[in-house]
Amino acid sequence: MTTVPVSNPFVAGWDLHEVLGTLRRDSPVIEMAMPTGRTAWLVTRYEDAQRALSDPRLSKGISPAGGVEYRTLVSEDVERALTRHMLATDPPDHTRLRRLVAGPFAPRRVAAMRPWIERIAERLLDDIPGDAEIDLLDAYAAPLPIQVICEMLGVPPEDQSAFRGWVTAILAGPMNLADWPAAVRAMVTYIRDLLAVKRERPGDDMLSDLLAVRDEGDRLSDDELTSMVYLLLIAGHETTTNLIANGMLVLLSEPERWTRVVAAPELLPGIIEELLRYEGPVQSSTFRTAVEPVEIGGQVIPAGATVVVSLSSANRDGARFPDPDRLVLDRPVIPNLAFGHGIHYCLGAPLARLEGQVAFAALARRFPGMRLAVPPDQLVWRPSVLIRGLHALPVLPGGA
Ligand code: HEM
Repeated sequence: MTTVPVSNPFVAGWDLHEVLGTLRRDSPVIEMAMPTGRTAWLVTRYEDAQRALSDPRLSKGISPAGGVEYRTLVSEDVERALTRHMLATDPPDHTRLRRLVAGPFAPRRVAAMRPWIERIAERLLDDIPGDAEIDLLDAYAAPLPIQVICEMLGVPPEDQSAFRGWVTAILAGPMNLADWPAAVRAMVTYIRDLLAVKRERPGDDMLSDLLAVRDEGDRLSDDELTSMVYLLLIAGHETTTNLIANGMLVLLSEPERWTRVVAAPELLPGIIEELLRYEGPVQSSTFRTAVEPVEIGGQVIPAGATVVVSLSSANRDGARFPDPDRLVLDRPVIPNLAFGHGIHYCLGAPLARLEGQVAFAALARRFPGMRLAVPPDQLVWRPSVLIRGLHALPVLPGGA
């Protein structure tokens, strides 16, 4: 098995699934070069991926920020403020931080949010003209989850549009270092100012609750709070945006798929699991660091090395999913890794699934005749190690 760094398979212009398929077959655990000048070990098979994601020897508490050093590229102060969240910590800190926000994301609390998420979706669709080409990503897939997570947290509506730009730049981080520091700085400053305002004038929202929370007798530290808000804002929208946009791309690229959703929206929960598997929004886990030598799939990863698990690849592994490169709308559900695995399994999974159901169902009701405005192979994927997302999704809405 090779240990020579290969170039990064997430660069623009490559057919991601083809490259990952080749790696799964020939080099299932491989060291790849990163634009930061470092290397990371990429894990591509389902079984190895699942094991790696729950291996406590692969730490989230070391080398945070996905290999991009907040300290060197921004400042030490910003590093402290952004790397104290649950996805950058191991137990016991991880357990304590996750417990503090688990309540609002629990399935029952999330289910109660359906009516107001439906209202958000309907309002956005009211603004879409039936007879002109639109970018569905910009008009619907992005603003829906932004409005949901911002309202949950208590971010004022007028500030919400600024987030999309910052978050897009932040998530492109390891592949595009140019815009990254400025976006990180803008986001930290904004979160700190917002926390100051909420401290003065608490509202009925998660941010105010977090400010008031006592963690075993102690308030969260300022850095932990800023980090938590940073994580929730980032994790809470770009991912769901791409569930909706990637999902619509897949559904519209063969019209009979969309016809099926329009005719039987009650099948959406199962269809969404297949869309998550087939073209999930998160193509790789965030980075982990080996605290000691760890063997994965026959390859020994040295202590101190970075490990990235390709969720997109694991979810197309033929050893787990029969005929993995075919989208099967009524595929019997076999759990996949789109939301990760182990202690860092996505906290927002119930919310993301609900947002997906509401988003697709509302579109099917209002725009049953929707079509892609360009052939699918003309659409461009954004280069990112983490995220699987398009630059734009031009469609012809078609009206009801
Ligand atoms: C963690 C995927 C939506 C909040 C994760 C992880 C994945 C993931 C793969 C684990 C990363 C790792 O282990 O490195 C997704 C997908 C989504 C989605 C595919 C949409 C379809 C959301 C939403 C929220 C959210 C709506 C709400 C705020 C989180 C949080 C974590 C996380 C807080 C960290 C959990 C921990 O460290 O214990 N997500 N996510 N996600 N996600 Fe999501």
